[in-house]
Amino acid sequence: MLKLITECHNLDNLPVRDLIDSSGSVSPETPISVLAERFFTEPELDALPLVRDGFPYGLAVRNKILTTLGTRFGFALYARKPISAIADMNPLLVHHDESLNGVLAQAMARDFRDIYDEILVVDEADKYVGLLSVKRLVIEQGNHLAQSIAQRRMALERAAEMQKMNDAKSSFMAHITHELRSPLHAIVGVIELVKMNFSQQKLDEFPKYINLLSTSSANLLAIINNILDLSKIEVGRMDVYSEDFVLGDLLQEVLETCQVLLGDKPLTIELDCAQPQILLSGDRGKVRQILLNLASNAVKYTDRGNITIAAEGGSQLKLSVKDTGIGIRTEDLANLFVAFNQLEDAKTRRYNGSGLGLTITAQLVQLLGGNISVDSTFGIGSRFDVQLPCRQPSQPEENFP
Ligand SMILES: Nc1ncnc2c1ncn2[C@@H]1O[C@H](COP(=O)(O)OP(=O)(O)O)[C@@H](O)[C@H]1O
Ligand SMILES: [Mg+2]
Repeated sequence: MLKLITECHNLDNLPVRDLIDSSGSVSPETPISVLAERFFTEPELDALPLVRDGFPYGLAVRNKILTTLGTRFGFALYARKPISAIADMNPLLVHHDESLNGVLAQAMARDFRDIYDEILVVDEADKYVGLLSVKRLVIEQGNHLAQSIAQRRMALERAAEMQKMNDAKSSFMAHITHELRSPLHAIVGVIELVKMNFSQQKLDEFPKYINLLSTSSANLLAIINNILDLSKIEVGRMDVYSEDFVLGDLLQEVLETCQVLLGDKPLTIELDCAQPQILLSGDRGKVRQILLNLASNAVKYTDRGNITIAAEGGSQLKLSVKDTGIGIRTEDLANLFVAFNQLEDAKTRRYNGSGLGLTITAQLVQLLGGNISVDSTFGIGSRFDVQLPCRQPSQPEENFP
């Protein structure tokens, strides 16, 4: 019944036919003593409809019968009479298609002396179909009200959530389009310059142009790769591989890439690894991507000072990247790894990039079963820490389930 009520959004449309009780009726000729006995032995029975040939005649109400019989000579006077003598012969009758609210309104409109709990329900041919309890009506109405309030609140919360997500995605789209366009503009522009200079036989600018083309296309590719990576992770299509690798070699590779990114910034990059020769087994490509994302951020967001890339292998691989860069405001830390969120200030950003690096990094860490944390002071520097479960191939397999 509750289900029916929840499906019916407008209480006005809920027909009472679904709430009635059609068990039991008696004929108007039934002696009062017979009914009295039923009321004595069935304490939950409040009223019984009087029905003849399928048509309703009245309502025998417990209180009225018991009070009548309880008066002086009541039994002697009434016991043998038919119930119709003392039943309510003008009870409230409602049609089974009547709405719940409509019935309640009719019940409440009755003289207060005639308001008792049961209402007789008839079909289109005016034949009796069952009794309806006013108490039950009120309870159902209350249930429905509570449910519709809860449903409304849930719907509102959900709509707000969707709106937030949508806003974040729109702002992400606006930002990413801008980020894709800038390297592409550079590429198209430089090609025009090359064409112009070529026709004028001015070849000395060419190495500079080629460099510009090379960095711009690399940027473009990096952004596209990030978008593809993220969508792959989002739909669960990123596979995890395992291979043996030497920790020190991986660190060296990351260091070399960072040194290229560094350009002529007055920055030093240090490696801190007590056992560079240690052999580990895991998804080298993803570990490299995680470390490179963090280290390239450190280079990007640090103008002077130093960057330390530290690693410690074992049953857990602990990685950390520390810088003396611009730092991150406390209020921004919470949203750092959340997809799309960090891009809300896209227009004011002074560093370009897809803004997806950390999101991807956090997702990769999660995919590998590890965790990532950040500690940063605005204006002083940042430190990112990553712990990944890892195996050392030299140790027996069963120690590392
Ligand atoms: N080492 C860091 N120092 C200061 N801010 C950082 C650092 N790493 C990340 N951030 C902040 O986090 C944001 C998100 O980083 P990321 O997802 O890698 O995107 P992107 O590098 O493309 O800006 C950056 O835009 C920057 O504001
Ligand atoms: Mg980045």
